[in-house]
Amino acid sequence: MKIKTYQNLEVECDLPLDADPKNLIALPALVDPHVHFRTPGAEYKENWESGALAAINGGVTTVFDMPNNTPAITTEVILDEKIKLVNEQLTKINIPLHRYFYLGATTDNLPEIEKCKNKIIGVKLFMGASTGNLLVADYEAQKNIFKKCAELNLVVAVHAEDDDIINAQKNNFPEATISDHGKIRPNRAAQIAAQKAIHLARETGVTLYILHTSTAQEIDLIRQAKKEGIKVFAEVTPHHLFLDETAYGTLGAKAQMNPPLRSKNDQNALWEAINDGTIDTVGTDHAPHTLQEKSLPYPNSPSGVPGIETYLPLLLDAHNKGKITLEKIVELTHTNPLKIFGLEKNNDLVLVDLNEIRTIKNENLKTKCRWSPFDRWELKGWPKYTILNNKIYKV
Ligand code: DOR
Ligand code: ZN
Repeated sequence: MKIKTYQNLEVECDLPLDADPKNLIALPALVDPHVHFRTPGAEYKENWESGALAAINGGVTTVFDMPNNTPAITTEVILDEKIKLVNEQLTKINIPLHRYFYLGATTDNLPEIEKCKNKIIGVKLFMGASTGNLLVADYEAQKNIFKKCAELNLVVAVHAEDDDIINAQKNNFPEATISDHGKIRPNRAAQIAAQKAIHLARETGVTLYILHTSTAQEIDLIRQAKKEGIKVFAEVTPHHLFLDETAYGTLGAKAQMNPPLRSKNDQNALWEAINDGTIDTVGTDHAPHTLQEKSLPYPNSPSGVPGIETYLPLLLDAHNKGKITLEKIVELTHTNPLKIFGLEKNNDLVLVDLNEIRTIKNENLKTKCRWSPFDRWELKGWPKYTILNNKIYKV
């Protein structure tokens, strides 16, 4: 069957006979540059069987997986072991998802970064502590990691929240509840960390990728840095685009993640930054935790929300509301991540129906944690088929 592409061209797809091609538009399958699929060590939250099904369900055929596992992925031996486990899990379900892995930076693993340079998509540096025990808060140690990555031509991806500010705020809010999460990890923590990271990128010439930008302040810094010609790229998550801090009241810990949800003003700055090219990619930061864990009283409730199978419908719905063009969606979810990380394009597609109206429901999700902060959101625009290596999966 011939299917129209978002650029008004045509592609041939071998769809089932009951498919109705006239309602479908082909987009390149999505690349999610930021997932936590939890292998090894927390497969009760997610593994690559459930993660790959969730990816396909969301129109995603390529993922970059984060290293804050148990054990943390900080050496070549641990990385090799992880890759072996992932391959086994994907073989079991026969979904050869395209996958890339981050190595976690520590204060003393520069030789391991060197050893892993051809096996990884980049180095992840937690400037502030989050889920897991990866943290490099010391400026000199951060600098050495930036230098090493510049020398090896590896992207440094930073979780930009300043650890000193977070720790000071924790002391200021000893009785904190969930609605204080954003005060414990304030805009300033993100701003100061982004400023340091940009400074280090200027000094070392490294390619810097700022994960989950969430504040107007980061956006200003990144816009300025890009003007200066620094190689800095910015990611935004769907939860920061579609939720704001008022969600604590309705969702409780299901709205808890790092960096936290921000104000409406910050959210507007993110949308503006999408449309003026300051933001380069959408990464879901798909970070499943069980509902049981989420029901623990703050601060024992873990930070993180799932997102890989809901971000395409959220973006298509935003498109239907006139907030974003299809070209921009493709740029953010496909073209830019490939370009920034130097990957080849493949011919995977996602076929979407822009007119379908459907409701996100926890019970329909493939992620093992089986909940979404967007549960019961009615959206217009849904993926119908995901095509991975020429094989068609009905969504
Ligand atoms: O909210 C978050 N969850 N932020 C992170 O930095 C880590 C992630 C996780 O792994 O749960
Ligand atoms: Zn993350």
